[in-house]
Amino acid sequence: MTLSATSPAPSLSTQDLTIRFGGHVAVNAVSCDFHPGELTVIVGPNGAGKTTYFNLISGQLTASSGTVTKDGQDLTRMSPSARAHHGIGRAFQLTNLFPALTVLENIRLAVQARAHMGWRIFRPVRHYRALTERAEHYLEAAKLGTRAHDLAANLPHGDQRKLEVALLMAMEPDIYMFDEPTAGMSLDHAPDVLELIGSIKSDPTKTVLLVEHKMSVVRSLADRIIVLHNGELVAEGDPATVMSSAVVREVYLGTATEEVA
Ligand SMILES: Nc1ncnc2c1ncn2[C@@H]1O[C@H](COP(=O)(O)OP(=O)(O)OP(=O)(O)O)[C@@H](O)[C@H]1O
Ligand SMILES: [Mg+2]
Repeated sequence: MTLSATSPAPSLSTQDLTIRFGGHVAVNAVSCDFHPGELTVIVGPNGAGKTTYFNLISGQLTASSGTVTKDGQDLTRMSPSARAHHGIGRAFQLTNLFPALTVLENIRLAVQARAHMGWRIFRPVRHYRALTERAEHYLEAAKLGTRAHDLAANLPHGDQRKLEVALLMAMEPDIYMFDEPTAGMSLDHAPDVLELIGSIKSDPTKTVLLVEHKMSVVRSLADRIIVLHNGELVAEGDPATVMSSAVVREVYLGTATEEVA
C-alpha cells in the first residue's frame, strides 16, 4: 500500500444540504467540509442563505435533503439539543443568560450544564469549588474578570456579547458557530469579541464557523472563506484568492463592491 499525504478528517461536513421553502430553495445542495483548528468565514450578500445554512447545521431547521455529519456521525434528523450534545455550539444572543445572576454565576451554570449536573445552584462544597474554578477560567479567557460580580443585566452591550461567547466556551463544544457576532456593536467593542473568537481556534481541536459581513474582520480572522450566493456555494478557498476572485466580485457587484475592494 502506498502512503500518501491526506488532509485530516473533517470534524463537520454538509453533503448536498438543501432546504426549500415552498418553491424557494434557500440552501441548494451545499457540500462543504470543516476541519479542526480552522476558522472558516461564510460570506455572501443579504439573503444568500448563510443563516439558513447555520440553522440546518445546528438543527433549528431540518433539511429537505442532504446530510449534516459530525465526526462521521449523521446529525441530519437530530433536534438542536441532541446536536448540541454532540458538540455543535451555536452562539445566540442572550438565550442562555440569567439577567438576575452575576457574570460568574452565569458562567458557572454553563459549566455545570456541561458537566451534566443539571441547572441547580447548590451542590456539595467540593463540587462547587471545582465548578467555580472552571468558571473562573472562562471568565478570564473572556476578559470579564473585573465584571465577575456584576449582574448580567447591568453589563454594557459589548460585555454581554463577551459573556455570550464565554457561556458557549464553558459548554466546550467542538464546533463553534457565530452569525454576525459584532452586529449592532460599536467599533470600540467589536475587536474584543473578535479577538476572543480568534483565540478559540488556537485550540487545534476546535472548529469555528463565522458569518461576517465586515471585510476587515474576514481578512484578519479567516483561514478559509466560503461564499454563498442564492443558496449555492459558489467559491471557497484561502481568503486572498477568494476575495480577489471574479466570482466574488460578480456576486457582490451592486451590493457591497466597495467592501470587497
Ligand atoms: N423560515 C423561512 N421561510 C421562508 N423563507 C425563508 C425562511 N428562512 C429564510 N428564508 C429565505 O431564505 C433566504 C435566505 O435567507 P437567510 O436569512 O439565510 O440569508 P442570509 O444570507 O443569512 O442573509 P443576511 O446577510 O441578510 O443575514 C431568504 O430569501 C429568506 O427570505
Ligand atoms: Mg443572516
